[in-house]
Amino acid sequence: MSTGIRVGIAGLGRFVPERRLTNQDLEKLVDTSDDWIVQRTGIRERRIAGEGEITSTLGLAAARQALEDARMTPEEVELIICATVTGDQPFPATACRIGYDLGAKNAGGFDLGAACSGFVFASQVASGLIQSGQLRRILVIGAEILSRTLDYKDRNTCVLFGDGAGAAVFTALDRAGQGEFLGGSICMEGGAEGVLAQPGGGSRHPATHATVDQGLHYMKMGGTKVFRFAVRVFAEMVQGVIDQYGIDDIGVIIPHQVNQRIIESAIEQVGLPMDLVFSTIDRYGNTSAASVPIALREARDAGRLKKGKLVVMPAFGAGMAWGHLLLRW
Ligand code: UT7
Repeated sequence: MSTGIRVGIAGLGRFVPERRLTNQDLEKLVDTSDDWIVQRTGIRERRIAGEGEITSTLGLAAARQALEDARMTPEEVELIICATVTGDQPFPATACRIGYDLGAKNAGGFDLGAACSGFVFASQVASGLIQSGQLRRILVIGAEILSRTLDYKDRNTCVLFGDGAGAAVFTALDRAGQGEFLGGSICMEGGAEGVLAQPGGGSRHPATHATVDQGLHYMKMGGTKVFRFAVRVFAEMVQGVIDQYGIDDIGVIIPHQVNQRIIESAIEQVGLPMDLVFSTIDRYGNTSAASVPIALREARDAGRLKKGKLVVMPAFGAGMAWGHLLLRW
């Protein structure tokens, strides 16, 4: 039964570490070249967390900016969901540390692990809780330090990823005033651990000297499989929005910032112009759950979110798990 409560975004925040890792820096670490990376991925540099920075400190900075943007105090927040697969530690939840550091004394908190789709899924959970009338003010964060899962001897993975965090405050629409939540999707195709995973450190391969020696705590990826999967589901999700709303209603597409070629292939498949897409891939690479909320805030700052038009945010990644978030700005 619908409560009639409409949900929107009251504030947005983003944070990236200072340290830049350029393609030229990577040329010194692995057998690669600036040309190869730019042509195959569109990435020119990525940010890398410095000493003393952990996932919660990145998330905290993005959360503070989002709350300031929403003109909301930490005490007003009722729930914090932190989407991450690179939390401060396996448990307790990184959301609890962020809530504590923020001074969100009245909030509950938990982490949501859905890799690159994390923010898009967490935003739908938050919107549903507000629509049901159970909660009123929810802080959703996507924060990742993927650099600490990367093998800087593996050119297949180390050139692609970076660190960062983004955040959004969800509330009832009358308070939010921007970005009405219209819906989205949450999908999966299991049994894909061999395609994209960090195999070590869980119950399958608990940490031992042997797992460290075998490099099981590093990210492993079959890039071509991910590429094909990503283009397919990305195109299907955007096509679904076109079928329901028509092309003219789409103001901007802010996809998971995965690889410029994946984005271009999917957009070409559905016959849309590339200038509908907002991309930060050249500057930050793939920041997993942080990529969509970082890009959302930067798109707003750049004036790319058009009043009354749709904001389409498709995401996809390990699981395989994919879904989209749809707002009307
Ligand atoms: O959120 C989801 C996370 N996953 C992803 O974002 C990955 C999605 N996949 C991709 O972005 C692409 O598949 C890659 C960028 C990883 C690879 O691009 P590709 O066009 O699919 O290249 P490929 O894997 O077919 O490799 C072509 C060649 C290979 O050499 P050989 O076997 O043809 O001699 C690779 O060894 O390129 C080589 N290669 C590299 N060369 C220079 C792979 N990585 C690199 C590199 N620098 N960094």
